[in-house]
Amino acid sequence: MIFRKLTKDDANQLFSLIDKIENALVDKNFWLPLNDTAKDHFFDPGWTEFFGFFENGALISAVALFYNEHEFGESADYLKISKKGLAEVGRAMVRPDKRGQGLLLQMLELLKEEARKRNIKTLLATVYPQNLPSKKSFLSAGFTLEDTYTKSCGFERSIFLYSL
Ligand SMILES: CC(C)(COP(=O)(O)OP(=O)(O)OC[C@H]1O[C@@H](n2cnc3c(N)ncnc32)[C@H](O)[C@@H]1OP(=O)(O)O)[C@@H](O)C(=O)NCCC(=O)NCCS
Repeated sequence: MIFRKLTKDDANQLFSLIDKIENALVDKNFWLPLNDTAKDHFFDPGWTEFFGFFENGALISAVALFYNEHEFGESADYLKISKKGLAEVGRAMVRPDKRGQGLLLQMLELLKEEARKRNIKTLLATVYPQNLPSKKSFLSAGFTLEDTYTKSCGFERSIFLYSL
């Protein structure tokens, strides 16, 4: 299994994994619907970088670092924290047949190193409060639960922070 940054060449694999995730959601609240602006910037390194585990060339898990406040602005404003040096960890996904091995936790640990390389000082993540596999992974990775609110899109989210 290798962990690496995704490139445009991995776009088909990423969108295929997203389809699998969306088709297997335990609860529709776990996953915010993808909007076009975010999707258009999935391979724009000044905005989003995806990383993931590959097994025999197949993408089995992924997670993104978002550097643009289009992604994290609302949550940062809600917490009244500075957006300087802030990035969001989002779109965490593990192929359903690969769950239960702590892959998200492993990705979060590796992602911290990637964020440090970009001089990011704080990681922010938002999770649906009842999404226990996600919530537990962020807590195990040392993130702290700051608050819970309802986003303007109507989805309830707990906000987690981690200082690098
Ligand atoms: C969230 C997700 C990426 C986590 O996958 P994963 O890394 O395989 O997670 P695991 O199954 O290993 O579970 C992580 C932890 O949650 C626990 N857990 C898993 N399912 C659980 C459940 N239904 N109830 C309580 N705890 C649960 C595990 O025991 C583990 O805890 P531990 O480390 O203390 O043993 C995966 O579930 C997923 O792709 N979900 C759909 C997309 C999604 O919801 N993304 C998150 C958006 S914020």
